[in-house]
Formats: sequence, C-alpha cells, structure tokens
Amino acid sequence: MWIVLFIAGLVGLLAVWEIWICEGAHLGRRAVVFLYDLTARRYERIKCFDPAWERQYLGEPFVRTLAGLHGARVLDAGAGSGRLARAVLPSTAFHGVITHLDASRKLLQVGRELADSPQTHWVQGWAMPLPFSDSTFDAVSSLEMLEFTPRPRAVLHELIRVLRPGGWLLITNRIGWRSRLILGRTFSPQAFRSLLREAGLVSIDVYPWQVEYDLAWGRKPYSDETRMQSKRAGVST
Ligand SMILES: C[S@@+](CC[C@H](N)C(=O)[O-])C[C@H]1O[C@@H](n2cnc3c(N)ncnc32)[C@H](O)[C@@H]1O
Repeated sequence: MWIVLFIAGLVGLLAVWEIWICEGAHLGRRAVVFLYDLTARRYERIKCFDPAWERQYLGEPFVRTLAGLHGARVLDAGAGSGRLARAVLPSTAFHGVITHLDASRKLLQVGRELADSPQTHWVQGWAMPLPFSDSTFDAVSSLEMLEFTPRPRAVLHELIRVLRPGGWLLITNRIGWRSRLILGRTFSPQAFRSLLREAGLVSIDVYPWQVEYDLAWGRKPYSDETRMQSKRAGVST
C-alpha cells in the first residue's frame, strides 16, 4: 500500500515538474505546442502584459536599434500572441514589417486578433528549421522561446542563419530558480553570453529584463569583420 502511494506521489511530482515548470519541454516540441494551444485563450490573462512597460522596455529599444531603417524586415520567432508587434507598431519611427512565426496555431490566432495590421505577417511553423532563406531579416527576435525547444543551441544558430550580416538578434535567456529545473534547456548568464559569442555574434549586451528573463542583443558581423576578428585571434580564413 505504502509503495503504491509513494509511486503515485512521485509520478504526481514528476507531472507537476514537467507540465507546470518545464511546460512540456522534455516531452518533445509537439507536447509544448499542444500545451500552448490548450491555454492560448488564457495566455494574455496569464502573462498580464503591461502595454506601457512593453513599449518602454521592448518596443522603444527595438525601434532605436533599427535606427529608422525603411522597409525593415523583422522576424519574431516563437511570437505567441504578437507581443513584439504590439510593443513596436505604436512607434511612428518603425517603418517595417514583422513576420510572426509560431508553431501554435491557436496562439497565432490570438495574435492576429490583437495585432493584425498591414505591417504584420503570421506564419505557422517550427523554429528548427526555419522556413526562410539565409540572411532574410534585418532583425530577429525570440522572446521566451529558446528554453522550450528540444535543441536550444541549434535553434540559436538557425535564428542567426536567417539574419543578414549587420542585422540584430534580440533574445531572452531564462534565469531564476525555475530555470535550473528545466534541465538541459537553460544557460547561466555567463554561459549564455559565451554561447552568443561562440555562435559568431558581436556587440553582445546581456542585461536583467524581467524577473525570470535576461534580455540579450547581438549583431551578426559583416564578413570583413569576421576576417578581422579571425586575424586578431591568429586564425587564417
Ligand atoms: C512563452 S511563449 C512566448 C511567446 C511570446 N514570444 C511572448 O514573449 O509572449 C513560447 C512560444 O514559443 C512557441 N514555441 C515553442 N516551441 C516552439 C518551436 N519549436 N517552434 C516554434 N514555436 C515554438 C510556443 O508555441 C509559444 O507561443
């Protein structure tokens, strides 16, 4: 009897850990997306986004980084309900189009209802591989997605692949005690910075952003910058 109760308790704890803390991250990408589809209609209530905060700490820095680039092509990977668009589009200094990619059809539908405009596209698809050619975008963002993907390092490389040389990546890194429980999917702040550097980005800046996330910027170098860096490091190209 005790052994049955013990096993049932253990299974219950494992289920809480995997579903509540890890959001299905170790059960495969379809499980993650199934859970997002299931909660899509409650997502905005759960997240309690503050529009003024989002504009100040997400939209404005993003628009400043694009520096008025006309016709800017932006990808938001793991876009969910269109959070980036809602933070960026109110700015009159943004002159571009945001392509939202997410595997959850239902969350994308919520995004369309909240943020559809002539400056947005909505694509249902996976982050790995991304359905875009190399160097397609001037900026790529991925907020709160990396830790839910089966191979975060490979996904990072994929995000950089579709970024043009000179373009910016904006990406979150999960921090805090819960991040340590999402085994094999998260990085310490130091490890994340190294990961971005090893992936070839330059001008890297990582700083605290939300209770559970750091925000990181990195620029994809032009090829002559890469040559200069290799020369400085003593590697011939
Ligand atoms: C926590 S939500 C973040 C949504 C949005 N970026 C935000 O900050 O509100 C994570 C999103 O990543 C999407 N996602 C998770 N794994 C994915 C994958 N492998 N490919 C594409 N989207 C994925 C989920 O469907 C979900 O919309």
